[in-house]
Amino acid sequence: MKIGMIGGGGVGQTLGTALIALGHDVVIGIRDPSAEELAKERNMARPLVDWAAETGSRVATFAEAATHGEVIFNVTQGQHSLAALTAAGVANLGGKVLVDVANPLDFSQGMPPFLVPEFTGPTSLAEQIQAAFPEAKVVKAFNTIAAAVMVKPGLVAGDHDLFIAGNDPAAKALVTEIARGFGWAGFVDLGEVAGARASEAILPVWARLWMTGGSPLVNLKVARAA
Ligand SMILES: NC(=O)c1ccc[n+]([C@@H]2O[C@H](COP(=O)([O-])OP(=O)(O)OC[C@H]3O[C@@H](n4cnc5c(N)ncnc54)[C@H](OP(=O)(O)O)[C@@H]3O)[C@@H](O)[C@H]2O)c1
Repeated sequence: MKIGMIGGGGVGQTLGTALIALGHDVVIGIRDPSAEELAKERNMARPLVDWAAETGSRVATFAEAATHGEVIFNVTQGQHSLAALTAAGVANLGGKVLVDVANPLDFSQGMPPFLVPEFTGPTSLAEQIQAAFPEAKVVKAFNTIAAAVMVKPGLVAGDHDLFIAGNDPAAKALVTEIARGFGWAGFVDLGEVAGARASEAILPVWARLWMTGGSPLVNLKVARAA
């Protein structure tokens, strides 16, 4: 499958590398794919020039990555996702599955981050993306675990779950299939895209579990009535 990765940080690179290993054709998009930007050190990730050399893949603009992708991943900083996806182009997202991995986090007061208020309450980032891009099939997924765990769930011991929300059942099934390719077996369907209010709200819990447990390699397992 052709994949457009909107964002080239640790998450975009990790998902991109794993998808390429599974035989997918990935283009990463960033704001300014100049030689200078590609060579730049990134926060908790390699310079993109190294990622491109190792994978043999392309780094382009947001719009070029979105044009390339049959499936699109939003892996930008959540408070900037609407701007990044607007730059990717509404027409380039229409009719496509848009996997929203982003979280609208404010790190201005250090760790743990908190959710940006304008994306909380009776709304969420994923719902605002769905409203802004009504022709896209938004699926919230992978946002509740560390990047390494997204593509290698076995890094966390025992059974644990991937939370999924979205309006389109076929789009959710496709994202589930991609996740199975990474090794995921436990899935929790939170319903329509408004279910992202719940999975985005897991982030403060996850950040606390990281701080108190000493490792970001941590996830949740849902247990129901016997
Ligand atoms: N890190 C994790 O383990 C993890 C786990 C779960 C979920 N997430 C979520 O996944 C997303 C990506 O995480 P990350 O660590 O890879 O993020 P990151 O490296 O901080 O940033 C990812 C992308 O955001 C874009 N961006 C930043 N500011 C922007 C702006 N003003 N306008 C447009 N684009 C902008 C950057 O574009 P440029 O390249 O052009 O600068 C960059 O490619 C985040 O929403 C995060 O909350 C992360």
